[in-house]
Amino acid sequence: MIIKSIELENFRNYESLNINFDEHTTILFGDNAQGKTNILEAAYLSGTTKSHKGSRDKEIIKFDKNESHIKTIISKNDRDYQIDIHLKKIGPRV
Ligand SMILES: Nc1ncnc2c1ncn2[C@@H]1O[C@H](COP(=O)(O)OP(=O)(O)O)[C@@H](O)[C@H]1O
Ligand SMILES: [Mg+2]
Repeated sequence: MIIKSIELENFRNYESLNINFDEHTTILFGDNAQGKTNILEAAYLSGTTKSHKGSRDKEIIKFDKNESHIKTIISKNDRDYQIDIHLKKIGPRV
């Protein structure tokens, strides 16, 4: 299985981010607190519905926003699958 792309909206420090991953190795580099681990958290959340840090939804949603969207496209056995997660500060997950 490979992760082909992750699209984030109001997730942690990202208001809007769309990353297409190379099918081989990806290296995330940047300064401290730039959001590298947040991208890994989005990938983990897409696969497990949970934060690897045990964070609650309202801590994951960007400060001062009420909702967050994560769209992940994975490829497995030559088929693409899309995972959509919608986090809300109030009400159930969709
Ligand atoms: N809910 C949130 N809304 C906005 N920014 C956030 C939120 N949660 C964490 N951050 C920011 O994310 C940054 C840390 O991102 P992180 O992925 O841990 O960085 P690193 O690149 O060091 O791995 C910090 O600047 C922190 O303020
Ligand atoms: Mg980190």
